[in-house]
Amino acid sequence: MNHKFQVDIEKCIKCGLCTVDCPTGAIVKDENNVPIMKNPLNCMKCQHCFAICPQGAISIMGKNPDESNEIRNVNPDDVLNLIQSRRSVRHFKHDNVSKEIIEKLKNMLNYSPTGKNSHALHFSFVENVDVMDDLRKKVNAKLATLFNKKPFEFLGKKINKFDKHKDAILNGEDVIFRNAPHMVVVSAPVNSPCPQQDGVIALSYFELYANSLGLGTLWCGYAQAILKMFPSFCEYLRIPEGYMPVYVMLFGNSAINYKRTIQPNPYQFITIEKQELEKDIWKNIKRTFWNFIR
Ligand SMILES: Cc1cc2nc3c(=O)[nH]c(=O)nc-3n(C[C@H](O)[C@H](O)[C@H](O)COP(=O)(O)O)c2cc1C
Repeated sequence: MNHKFQVDIEKCIKCGLCTVDCPTGAIVKDENNVPIMKNPLNCMKCQHCFAICPQGAISIMGKNPDESNEIRNVNPDDVLNLIQSRRSVRHFKHDNVSKEIIEKLKNMLNYSPTGKNSHALHFSFVENVDVMDDLRKKVNAKLATLFNKKPFEFLGKKINKFDKHKDAILNGEDVIFRNAPHMVVVSAPVNSPCPQQDGVIALSYFELYANSLGLGTLWCGYAQAILKMFPSFCEYLRIPEGYMPVYVMLFGNSAINYKRTIQPNPYQFITIEKQELEKDIWKNIKRTFWNFIR
């Protein structure tokens, strides 16, 4: 495995930060205190060595430190306001988001973290509202055929998910995609360490960045259900073999504006005190099983 780990000896001040911060011990100092890639099989390609070097002396996988972005401080109040003000948008303008904005969103997605830095996510974008219109027609028509079969069954189970929308769907209303002009489907290799988490993190980043760019988004469980019900939909979206669709997000210019943040009820927050840790924490056997049952 060649990571093309290179140190510019002229610039390196032998501070050792890259070796200390390497999460897997792949990089160590040689006898002259110069960092070397000692254990390449351990390297996750996370680029911490590259990012931490105060001198820009390290290159890995052919990356040039001069082409990285500087790290700026962000205003935490603005970040919090972005989080507080995002809403699920179900009324979109029927027009295309500009190519430039979609490119920005795609470029941002490359920074989304993945377990063990597997970095193998796949994104299927519907970037044209006409394609989306075609898709919603096809999905509605397919759902309508299922309603005609009585009872509405899938793999021997009665499906209730769309039952309550039967009339609307038969009327041609887009209950599934909410007339959104765009959609992104994230998928991950089934055998990657954290496929579900990786995909959901990526879409969480997507949602916030899209909102900061003035767009509206919607996590779309219904579209996800359609993907599971109809594997041919995965083919249509060109989800690669060996990948699982993780989730679907609709996006576009919002047709509505919210005037204030909501006021959510607080979740449960507990603080673990030190004396609790001093208990024999492995004794509480009856909980262990149930903790993992859904
Ligand atoms: C995982 C997930 C799936 C969702 N699926 C749908 C969906 O299929 N259709 C829909 O209209 N809303 C969907 N929603 C939106 C939720 O109903 C919404 O997040 C919730 O009502 C809170 O409103 P807010 O997002 O505006 O704060 C989904 C949300 C999440 C987090």
